Amino acid sequence: MKIGDFKRDLPLFLAPMAGYTDRAMRLICRRFGADFTESEMVSARALVYQDRKSAPLARLLPDELPAAVQLFGSDPAIIAEAAKIVACGTAGGVAPTAIDLNFGCPVRKIVSNGEGSALMREPNKIAAIVSAVVKAVSLPVTVKIRAGWDAAEKNAAECARAAEAAGASAIFLHARTRSQFYAGSADLSVIREVKAAVRIPVVGNGDVSDAKSARRMLAETGCDGLMIGRAAVGCPFVFREVRAALKGAPIPPVTNVERLSAALLQLDFAIADKGERVAVMESRKQAAQYLFGLRDAAAYRRRICEAKTREEVEAILRAALEKTE
Ligand SMILES: Cc1cc2nc3c(=O)[nH]c(=O)nc-3n(C[C@H](O)[C@H](O)[C@H](O)COP(=O)(O)O)c2cc1C
Repeated sequence: MKIGDFKRDLPLFLAPMAGYTDRAMRLICRRFGADFTESEMVSARALVYQDRKSAPLARLLPDELPAAVQLFGSDPAIIAEAAKIVACGTAGGVAPTAIDLNFGCPVRKIVSNGEGSALMREPNKIAAIVSAVVKAVSLPVTVKIRAGWDAAEKNAAECARAAEAAGASAIFLHARTRSQFYAGSADLSVIREVKAAVRIPVVGNGDVSDAKSARRMLAETGCDGLMIGRAAVGCPFVFREVRAALKGAPIPPVTNVERLSAALLQLDFAIADKGERVAVMESRKQAAQYLFGLRDAAAYRRRICEAKTREEVEAILRAALEKTE
C-alpha cells in the first residue's frame, strides 16, 4: 500500500494514543518493526493559537519518519491552518509523512465539542474538513474513523467514501463504535465493508495483539495494513511477532534481557527528549507494562509507578526480571 512516498506491502502502524505515543514510544516501536508511527492527537485550535504545550506533541524528528501527526478539531478552516503549521515542522521538527485527521475519539469532552467521533454523524463535515486540509497542504491526508456512532449507526463505509471523495489518501479504521469506547470486540465485518467501498488503502485496527489476531484481521477483512495500539504499550515486540507471522517465519521469543533493555532504551529516548524528571514521571506507566505477566508483577509495577529517577526504575525492573529468571 501507499501513502504519498511511503510504500510497503502490508505495513504495520503504531496507533496514535494520547498520553502514550510520544517520541520515545514511536522510536522503540520502529526499532521492533513498526513501519509507520503516529503522534498522539493534537488540538488544531491549540496549535493555531500557539498553545505552548501542544506544539511539542506535534514535533517529529527525521529519525522517526515515516510518521504522521494527528490533528483533531471540527472547524475546517482551523484544522487547515493547523495542518499548514504541521507541514512546516512543528517546534523545530520536520514535516510528517502525512497528516492524519481524528474522527474517532470517543471521549465525552471531545465529542461534546462536535469533534472526534461526533463527526461520524456528519459525513459532509468530514468531507469539508478533509477537503480543506488537502487544499491547504501538499502532504497526504489520512483519516482515522470508527465503525460508527453506535450499533444502529455503523456508517464507516459512508464516512470513508466521503473522505476518499474529498481527497484522503488512506483510512485507518478502528472497528468499534463510539458507544463501545474500548469495550466489547471490534467488528471486523465493518473493515471488510469499508475495504469494498473505497479504492484508497484501508488499515485495520482493533484488538490486534499477536500473530493469531493479526492473521485473523487480515483473513477476515482483506485490509491493506494493520494498526496496533494497546498491545504495543510495554511490548514493542508485538510488531516483530506480527511481522514474523505474516512472513510465515518462526516467532522470536521475548527474553527477559530484551524486556529490560527495551524498557530502558525507551526510557532513555524519553529522557533525551524531555529530561529525566518529566520523562520518568510520564514514562513509568509504560516501563511498568514491560513487567506484564511476570511473577509478582503487580507489586513491582506499583513500585515503578512511584519511582522518580532512571536509577530507581532500572533497579525495580532488574529485581522483577531476576525473580522470574
Ligand atoms: C490510552 C489511549 C489513547 C488513545 N488516543 C488516541 C488518539 O489520540 N487518537 C486516535 O485516533 N486514537 C486514539 N486511541 C485509539 C487507538 O488509536 C486505537 O484505535 C484503539 O486503541 C484500538 O486499537 P488497539 O486494540 O490496537 O488498541 C487511543 C486509545 C487508547 C487506549
